[in-house]
Amino acid sequence: MSGIPVDIRSLADYERHAASQMPEASWQHLQDGSGQGLTVGVDRAAYDRIQLLPRRLTDLRGGSTAIQLFGEHHATPIFLAPLAYQKLAHEEGELATVRAATALGITTILSTLSSVTLEEVAAAATGAARELERPAVPLWFQLYFQEDRARTLPLVRRAEAAGYSAIVFTVDAAVKRAGFQLPPGVEAANLRGMPPQRQATASGAILFGTSLTEEAPRWEDLAWLRAETKLPLLVKGLVAPEDGRMAVDHGADGIILSNHGGRVLDGMPAAIDVLPLMREAVGAEVPLLVDGGVRAGTDVVKALALGARAVLVGRPQMHALAVGGFAGVAHMLHMLRAELELAMAQIGCRDVSMIDRRYLFDARAM
Ligand code: FNR
Repeated sequence: MSGIPVDIRSLADYERHAASQMPEASWQHLQDGSGQGLTVGVDRAAYDRIQLLPRRLTDLRGGSTAIQLFGEHHATPIFLAPLAYQKLAHEEGELATVRAATALGITTILSTLSSVTLEEVAAAATGAARELERPAVPLWFQLYFQEDRARTLPLVRRAEAAGYSAIVFTVDAAVKRAGFQLPPGVEAANLRGMPPQRQATASGAILFGTSLTEEAPRWEDLAWLRAETKLPLLVKGLVAPEDGRMAVDHGADGIILSNHGGRVLDGMPAAIDVLPLMREAVGAEVPLLVDGGVRAGTDVVKALALGARAVLVGRPQMHALAVGGFAGVAHMLHMLRAELELAMAQIGCRDVSMIDRRYLFDARAM
């Protein structure tokens, strides 16, 4: 912990310090939203508008943050969102992140575009669990469709073989502006040795008619993926409640409601604002996770109160990695877990499954 600046007391502090720890281009890439940046700020603003209604003199004995999802134990409903190219923030990249997650019992979703291979990350997680004498954390693999099914399936098979326990199929970024050049030493390690992607450009075409739109995954590809793997399958990047229903109809076991941190389509709503509608659309039982703008323990409580089973934390991983590597991420996750327990105790709730709308202030309902 010696390298962590003493004035860091929140995730926002990590963000402030990280700005000077990363090359300018990588920092912009990490922080930026698409277009005019309209979406990138909406999540935070939405969380800040929601207010909590604490209950007093409740029984807090035997409290716990643990949840069960797909038959697995998760020590807390705070998961790590898949974030590409973590070596942009620190030379150890995803290896440092997964070791810190293991130390703090945080379920980790590894990106297809990780800068360390999925096998190396799984081995690092197992090694860290042994070394720290901690239980191994669930590792989930985030899948990006690779042009066609034949190129996509090997990634699923590798994740299964390496012990990942769920597939997170991200469906909101197949068509995305990309202007960022990776610096030397940072690569998509899982795609090493794969045949190069076909050129997106087609003569005379802007976007329609190029491979980007011709080969973007469709609902039938979700049904195909469902048939190909026995692992729990979550779809990440849904926003329209009707898409939530469609995903379940096509075999999804869970949904991650997300606007991709405001990085794809500009002008989207905050995921947390859509959450109650999505919950209504898919029913009470379908595991629904949410991300975007989660920066404090109280945000986690707000998301759970509105119907999420767990939340994902994105950019703060990179902020903490840039500032302090393994120790930074471990410290950041410890703060968030501690803030969640504090928030639960202060609203008078000892179990995450008990958190619901009764803990939110709604003047009209009083
Ligand atoms: C992402 N995100 C993302 N999502 C995904 O499914 N696969 C990926 O490889 C990436 N890569 C990625 C890189 C960077 C730099 C960012 C900022 C985001 C989206 C991510 O999983 C998540 O949805 C958002 O980051 C959540 O918002 P916050 O917590 O960053 O506000």
